[in-house]
Amino acid sequence: MTEQERYTASPDRYNNSETMYRRCGRSGILLPKVSLGLWHNFGADDPLERSRSILHSAFDNGVTHFDLANNYGPPYGTAEETFGKIMERDFRTYRDEMFISTKAGYDMWQGPYGNWGSRKYLIASLDQSLRRMKIDYVDLFYSHRYDPHTPLEETLQAIVDIVRAGKALYAGISRWPLEALKFAYDYLSERDVPLLIYQGRLNLIDRAPHDEGILDFCHSRGVGFISFSPLAQGLLTERYLHDVPEGSRMSRGRTLTPERLTPELLEYLHTLKSIADGRGENMAQTALAWILAQRGVTSTLVGASSVAQLMRNLSCINASPFSDEQLRLLK
Ligand SMILES: NC(=O)c1ccc[n+]([C@@H]2O[C@H](COP(=O)([O-])OP(=O)(O)OC[C@H]3O[C@@H](n4cnc5c(N)ncnc54)[C@H](OP(=O)(O)O)[C@@H]3O)[C@@H](O)[C@H]2O)c1
Repeated sequence: MTEQERYTASPDRYNNSETMYRRCGRSGILLPKVSLGLWHNFGADDPLERSRSILHSAFDNGVTHFDLANNYGPPYGTAEETFGKIMERDFRTYRDEMFISTKAGYDMWQGPYGNWGSRKYLIASLDQSLRRMKIDYVDLFYSHRYDPHTPLEETLQAIVDIVRAGKALYAGISRWPLEALKFAYDYLSERDVPLLIYQGRLNLIDRAPHDEGILDFCHSRGVGFISFSPLAQGLLTERYLHDVPEGSRMSRGRTLTPERLTPELLEYLHTLKSIADGRGENMAQTALAWILAQRGVTSTLVGASSVAQLMRNLSCINASPFSDEQLRLLK
């Protein structure tokens, strides 16, 4: 697609609504089972037309939720800028059909006010994010990580005030430990800004939110749960079964390194491959379907460096149920 071509969303984008959407906890919001994250592949270093086609294909296939953060890129801020360009050029008329999130909590700018969980940082950061994305509000604003040094009340009150100011419609937290999550749930509920969703890393080879009780807590309180890095950055696909392909995330070595490919992990990946083959599925499809089968999970937040990857990931929506034997082998 060239820059000049106008984008019109597919009229079929909601054809699979029955199977595509899940209610986010006890809320009015439905989220797609597969949401798209812009951590990688949407920065200034990535080809804009490729980022644009991935976003178009997602929306054309019913993916209404797009997840960003202030420091996605690289460089920091540029994934939001890319999204802003596409918002301006293509998505403006569809804004009300989209659920857009951003976050602050990791390092973003120099000095003492560009990191962690202060009110100063969160409020200034969201204002910057809105300018970069060329939107007036986000649907969801997250504290990106737990800050052990800032009073939780300060971080949470900043989120309450952000929602009350209309700059975000819903509140979320990511990577907070269970005790802090419980505190956040109570604090936000008491102020009528209920916690909509928790974002945590959950996939076949990292089950911490499950083991730590976070998933159960969210489920019992009606808080949604969205799993990030559901394919373990691509490990749980065919990508690394035989080598480290040129151009892959691991070959770039920034957030995924070859040391991850231990003999034990490779053995597990081959088991996953044979289970996926037996189910007539691709590995990503099976890995994502496993996440969606966990009690309390609302959505999986995939990344994709091509439209083809995104489409393979979306196929998890039609995956088969798991047999007990398959679940045992995937343990
Ligand atoms: N809250 C947090 O702290 C946090 C942390 C991390 C991520 N997140 C969120 O979660 C989102 C997803 O994270 P992630 O990008 O790590 O997710 P992921 O889905 O686990 O990994 C995505 C990467 O795996 C590869 N891949 C994806 N589908 C594939 C397929 N079908 N076949 C082969 N390879 C495939 C691609 O890498 P190649 O480049 O090799 O093609 C792709 O960029 C982020 O964008 C962000 O929104 C949040």
